[in-house]
Amino acid sequence: MKIAVLGTGYVGLSTGVCLSEIGHSVCCIDVDEAKINRLRQGLSPIYEPGLEDLLVKNTALGRLHFTTSHKEAIETADIIIIAVGTPQGDDGAADLSYLVQAAKDLSAHMKPNTIVVIKSTVPVGTNDYVKCIIEEHTNTPFKMVSNPEFLRQGSAVKDTMKADRIVIGSQDKEAALKIQEMYRPLGVPILLTNVRSAEMIKYASNAFLATKISFINEISNLCEAVGANIIDVADGMGRDNRIGAAFLQAGIGYGGSCFPKDVKALLHTADSYGISFDLLKNTISINESQKILLYQKACKVLGSLKNKKIALLGLSFKPETDDMREAPSINIAHLLRGAEAQVVAYDPVATENAKKVLGNTIEYASSIEEAIDNADALFLVTEWQKFKQLDLVKVTQQMKQPLIFDGRNCFSEEKVRACPRIEYYPIGKPAIITGKDEIN
Ligand SMILES: NC(=O)c1ccc[n+]([C@@H]2O[C@H](COP(=O)([O-])OP(=O)(O)OC[C@H]3O[C@@H](n4cnc5c(N)ncnc54)[C@H](O)[C@@H]3O)[C@@H](O)[C@H]2O)c1
Repeated sequence: MKIAVLGTGYVGLSTGVCLSEIGHSVCCIDVDEAKINRLRQGLSPIYEPGLEDLLVKNTALGRLHFTTSHKEAIETADIIIIAVGTPQGDDGAADLSYLVQAAKDLSAHMKPNTIVVIKSTVPVGTNDYVKCIIEEHTNTPFKMVSNPEFLRQGSAVKDTMKADRIVIGSQDKEAALKIQEMYRPLGVPILLTNVRSAEMIKYASNAFLATKISFINEISNLCEAVGANIIDVADGMGRDNRIGAAFLQAGIGYGGSCFPKDVKALLHTADSYGISFDLLKNTISINESQKILLYQKACKVLGSLKNKKIALLGLSFKPETDDMREAPSINIAHLLRGAEAQVVAYDPVATENAKKVLGNTIEYASSIEEAIDNADALFLVTEWQKFKQLDLVKVTQQMKQPLIFDGRNCFSEEKVRACPRIEYYPIGKPAIITGKDEIN
């Protein structure tokens, strides 16, 4: 099939690359010329494991192309997939301006009976709205399909090739079956439904996962208060098939380009229908509190943070991505700078993106050693594998004070206790202090 993909972000690029991998002829369009130039050279503009290899392979096979010209990609396409951003607007609702522009862009060039697929995450009713916009701009007949995306950044290729399910929503059976056919080589289970249900499935899924995170974070705070251990509690809960082990890792809150904005957009939809979705309101406020937990713990232990050197390990909102959108590190850095601490951060891949957000308010180290050298405290913010493998004895020896606030529970009790001198504050577990008296 000939497919055009609008938008080469995490979703558009992963989708385009994976569809070419299963044999389709794909042309990806972006309005960002710099991105397209990089892609044409076989370079991925985002850090996503495995993506660049497939990009290079399928470009060489002639199945994958990149352009800034909507006309070039759209006039021959059987299927057009819209994967542009739907960021959070000022009032919490999804900002649909990129989507509306994309609809106008494609309506000028599409051939008759093209299927227009909305993959971007959009509020219920948006597919109908976009259909009207396209109809206003062209008399060419076309069909609409809602096909929300569930991939996770950091494992986008794997999640696309081996998804748990693919959701296809359409009022037009023939169009739905054609999209089902497009995905058939993946062998992924497919759910066919109507458009509004497909739109709702995406928001309901993200809101549920975000709520699961806030729930376990609240439980972890309670564990700290009562002297329980969140690792064992989550393990014990997760072994129950009705609950499941995923998204039960207590930490310093969710971030990223999806959960924060999607939860708020769903809340906005509920509000506009007169439904007070209190559970979601609490999910958001718990998450906000959780993001500042490490800072609060540090204030309690150190008192004033003025002129203290704090090493931040991890900047991206989660490991295996360079995405800084809504990363807890941003809140933490702002708080620490507000308290006049010296902040020196290290991240394996997100430093360049972090500079765009945090500028020169903090310092950026080019190695872990440089960040922790002579530090008064270390904040573990993102659970990159290389941080989990750190030699804590060496780390604590290099610091001015062996004080670690671990926001992601990266280290086992055994590993921490092996340090002759450490003061270690995890999430939802008792603190460990060696070389002094142990506290609870
Ligand atoms: N990032 C994720 O993990 C994820 C997962 C599931 C769903 N989603 C949803 O998918 C959508 C895209 O997310 P993303 O993270 O890939 O976005 P992104 O911001 O990384 O990329 C969007 C791209 O679209 C391009 N664009 C904007 N207008 C365009 C137009 N008219 N024509 C062509 N290109 C245009 C932008 O230049 C940009 O490169 C959003 O609705 C998001 O909520 C994202």
